[in-house]
Amino acid sequence: MKKTNVISAAILLATSAMGSTVHAEELNVVCSSEQDHCDLVAQTFEAETGIDVLMVRKSTGETLAQVRAEAGNPKIDVWYAGTGDPHIIAAEEGLTQPSGADTSELLGWARNMADITNGRAIGIYAGALGIGYNSEILEEKGIAPPECWADLADPRFAGEVQVANPNSSGTAYTELATFVQLFGEDDGFRLLGEIGKNVNSYTKSGSAPTKAAARGETGVSISFMHGMVQQTVAGFPIVTVAPCEGTGYEVGAVSVIEGARNFEAAQNWVEFVLTPEVQALAAQVGSYQVPSNSNSVMPPEAPDLASIKLIDYDFATYGASDTRARLLERWDTEVGDPNPQQ
Ligand code: G6P
Repeated sequence: MKKTNVISAAILLATSAMGSTVHAEELNVVCSSEQDHCDLVAQTFEAETGIDVLMVRKSTGETLAQVRAEAGNPKIDVWYAGTGDPHIIAAEEGLTQPSGADTSELLGWARNMADITNGRAIGIYAGALGIGYNSEILEEKGIAPPECWADLADPRFAGEVQVANPNSSGTAYTELATFVQLFGEDDGFRLLGEIGKNVNSYTKSGSAPTKAAARGETGVSISFMHGMVQQTVAGFPIVTVAPCEGTGYEVGAVSVIEGARNFEAAQNWVEFVLTPEVQALAAQVGSYQVPSNSNSVMPPEAPDLASIKLIDYDFATYGASDTRARLLERWDTEVGDPNPQQ
């Protein structure tokens, strides 16, 4: 059977397992992964279920802000993808509800997310944070490539580093929480401030800095490694670095919004995106996260998490509402974005 037929057959099986519960004809999704990935999953879901998907792409922190603002009168049914911490916070604040999806095929880190949130957020993928650099730009400028987080504070990178703003971006919040866990809070903030002197722009979305590095607009990006690999595979001179001190990682999640108007369709979406076949679609559009379903195909391009010095990222602590609020306030005061994007 051709690969696409296998996928269709399996998706058909998955959706027929959902059976006669498909009544709703519309589903409102906010997606916090890459646009291509979001679009492909939405189109496949529409084709297989006949449910219309109305979808927008928004960064993880921005989505949390929208979900909070709409509490009690939500316009969104499902929040798909994006880093796990804001999903955990939404669960803690009662903004999401359990979908009842079966998590038995999922890897431990994905089930852990469901355990922390009593089934409100479920892990769909994982990805490690790293440093990306444009080898042509650094070579042209005679800048020695970075190997460690601490290198990015060196004056040789003045104006060359780009990273997202942790208020809007889950990626940048993962970076902030990673620095605090790796170096301790005070030293972590000190290093973020020193790197900040070399930052040319704090973007809204987490993947934008790597895309800018690929286009040659910045020498270095801080983001998820799989986004860097995506640019390398696309032919850009991006080199991915696993920082010498170690690094943090995301567990991307899916959540159903409390009070969702299309709850059954939302449940169907969650079951759908947990299937191995749907998780494998991501790699077709260059989204090389590690899939959470143990039966899904691991894209060969996905950075091998086992070979990276990963911290034991504390999702319960850094996915707590008060911790995030306190760290972001401290970031605004001590690091800060001189030109916040609207
Ligand atoms: C990219 C990555 C995802 C990540 C997301 C977070 O799309 O591929 O793995 O979850 O960024 O986006 P944000 O804009 O919130 O940092």
